[in-house]
Amino acid sequence: MNRFERFEGIFLVAGIGFFLLSFLGMGLAPWTTLKKLKMIPEGTGRTAEEELGRTIFIHEGCWHCHTQFVRPVAGEPRRYGPVSQAMEHINEIPQLFGTRRVGPDLAREGGKRSNDWHLAHFYNPRLTVPWSVMPGFPWFYKKEGGKIIPTEKAKALTAYMQSLGKSAKAQMEKAEEEYRKNFRIGSILPPGDDLLERGKELFAEECSGCHGPQGDGNSEANKLLLPAPADLTEDNPTPEYVYTVLHKGIPGSAMPHFRDCPEEDIWALSYYVVSLEPKEKEPVIPPPSPEVIDRGKEIFSTTCAVCHGAEGRGDGPAGIALKPSPPDFHGMRPSFRHIVDTLSKGIPGTAMAPFVQLSAGDKEALAFYIRSLYTAGEKQ
Ligand code: HEC
Ligand code: HEC
Ligand code: HEC
Repeated sequence: MNRFERFEGIFLVAGIGFFLLSFLGMGLAPWTTLKKLKMIPEGTGRTAEEELGRTIFIHEGCWHCHTQFVRPVAGEPRRYGPVSQAMEHINEIPQLFGTRRVGPDLAREGGKRSNDWHLAHFYNPRLTVPWSVMPGFPWFYKKEGGKIIPTEKAKALTAYMQSLGKSAKAQMEKAEEEYRKNFRIGSILPPGDDLLERGKELFAEECSGCHGPQGDGNSEANKLLLPAPADLTEDNPTPEYVYTVLHKGIPGSAMPHFRDCPEEDIWALSYYVVSLEPKEKEPVIPPPSPEVIDRGKEIFSTTCAVCHGAEGRGDGPAGIALKPSPPDFHGMRPSFRHIVDTLSKGIPGTAMAPFVQLSAGDKEALAFYIRSLYTAGEKQ
């Protein structure tokens, strides 16, 4: 019997044959065709640091919980931004489209959050998002004398996050700017005990990681965020002020926007923040004489108005472009001690520098003046 008539022989020939066929059809043919397409650029356009971040993303299995693909179905673009294009994933091997979404899609993550937000989040996601189920990656950090210092790995991962969705970044930024520019408060939900109770719960779930359970900025996240989360107990804002911050976020800081939450929840949070009291009440300060306020006004217009605006609305010529930009003193009335303190220490991580040249009297005059700008009636 001829050996080619044996089964083994048939399998051998068929096996080699099919292997060659598929090698030609699925390997060689596309390779030679694609090689001729000169429009495919080399590389992925990422820096070495971003590439390292991508490698860590693969090693740590982040793709197991995060997709990188905005699908062309209803609702997706509203939540994440423009639908993903094939061109965006050019020369990425392996591609990280992913299939499971335990966490949100990351295709448009670049520019969405600040670097310090990512650094605090990778250390322990509960610091920035108290309800998060994402694991922490504390081994990307060193601890030195109570300080938490991100290593190259944490920084590379952050750089990689900021590189995602580069091609749609300009479009996303423009939409964000438009939103912030056109934002107006529609209707005001009246306060109520139920709303306050709901606000308290939501604060614990959404805000306590950064601002601390008491809202005084005392938190673990504080160690990794710059500027640090505000001490909300010293701000005395109006509900409208907080509502606006929650819709717009504070670009240039880790403060995210919460505009995707239901309107009722945003009002609940706003009323709750307004209700926060400092641990130690401010001592009663006798009202100033009109001359003191005038003096404060004078120093303000020569020293502070470039940033804070002639009327303290945060719209001075040098202030508008700042990130974070100065607050509107008509919508919040920081405590006396907070203003004096801010003038002595500044706010690290922002353009607000300490004003060491001002005398104690000047600082007090400024505090009285700033507090006199508050237009929302009596609230201590
Ligand atoms: C067990 C699943 C899981 C793993 C693993 C995981 N994540 Fe997450 N991730 C989540 C969840 C859930 C959220 C939403 C809550 C939050 O923001 O922490 C999230 C949120 C995020 C966000 C914020 C997205 C946004 O803008 O709201 C980023 C960025 C992120 N993850 C990156 C990573 C990276 C990088 C890794 C790997 C080092 C990783 N994740 C691993 C589940 C996971
Ligand atoms: C990821 C951390 C983070 C989370 C979460 C967060 N904040 Fe903030 N928040 C900040 C930081 C940082 C600032 C200070 C920004 C600055 O100095 O410009 C801030 C500032 C604010 C301000 C403005 C205070 C001022 O002085 O003008 C308000 C109001 C506020 N946050 C309320 C909230 C509320 C309510 C929540 C929850 C729904 C929340 N924040 C969640 C980090 C956070
Ligand atoms: C170079 C611009 C600039 C100048 C000049 C400046 N500020 Fe500021 N100021 C800022 C910015 C930006 C912030 C917001 C910081 C932040 O977001 O945390 C701020 C915040 C503040 C706050 C804290 C408000 C809060 O949210 O708690 C006070 C009070 C204040 N400034 C007072 C003054 C006074 C008084 C002067 C003049 C002596 C002055 N600033 C001059 C930029 C400036």
